Amino acid sequence: MNERVNRFEDIGALSKAAAEDVVSLAQASVSESGRFSIALSGGHTPRRLYEILAGEFESRMPWRSVHVFWGDERCVPPKDPESNFRMAWEVMLSRVPIPQANIHRIQAEKGLPGAAAESYEETLSDHFRWGLSGRTRRSFDLVLLGMGAEGHTASLFPESSALEETERWVVAVKAPDGVFPPVRISLTLPALNAADSVFILVSGAEKRAALQRVLESEEPAGADLPVSMVRPSGNRVWYIDRAAGG
Ligand code: 6PG
Repeated sequence: MNERVNRFEDIGALSKAAAEDVVSLAQASVSESGRFSIALSGGHTPRRLYEILAGEFESRMPWRSVHVFWGDERCVPPKDPESNFRMAWEVMLSRVPIPQANIHRIQAEKGLPGAAAESYEETLSDHFRWGLSGRTRRSFDLVLLGMGAEGHTASLFPESSALEETERWVVAVKAPDGVFPPVRISLTLPALNAADSVFILVSGAEKRAALQRVLESEEPAGADLPVSMVRPSGNRVWYIDRAAGG
């Protein structure tokens, strides 16, 4: 794993730099393989990044060859304010010339959560043609992630049994008590760690303690700090603002 830690004054500078790197990766992927497969993060942190990609950087993204997925989704309807799809659709996907067929939403509100997870795993298998790729599973060119104040990422929460998953790429999870919405669909560590690159965006003072543990302590990656277990064979790149410890 190659690791880079980029530090910025604020969320604006962080987002602009991350957007530049997303554009570079997208252009390189499309020229190399004809497409760019990216898994988006939920939460609030990536909002400005998405606005930049749909705004001042819109013409620099090869949208017609971009395939968008999600790292996790809450089990709510797509128009629900808590939906990760809704935020990305409103600020980015509804404003760019991406083919609708290239938007691979997690249909987390349909049927039982376990079935929704299996259905999304099928979506990934079809897209990455796992059936034809033998043992090694092709994966995302880029996964965008955030980090919660206690170190969760996607919907992989501390001490969750989902962190022990070694085969499935998509699982249904129950968030810890008090975390809303309670039921989610999430990519697992095998899925995240198979990506060519993972960008982790961290902003805000409430993230400082967890981030310091990930970046500065000698403790091995463990289930008490899920984001530390994201160790792709390719690149792990941090985008951190001053408030979070940058
Ligand atoms: C989610 C995200 C989650 C998020 C962190 C940080 O569905 O909530 O996948 O992992 O990235 O909770 O959230 P903020 O960006 O809102 O701080």
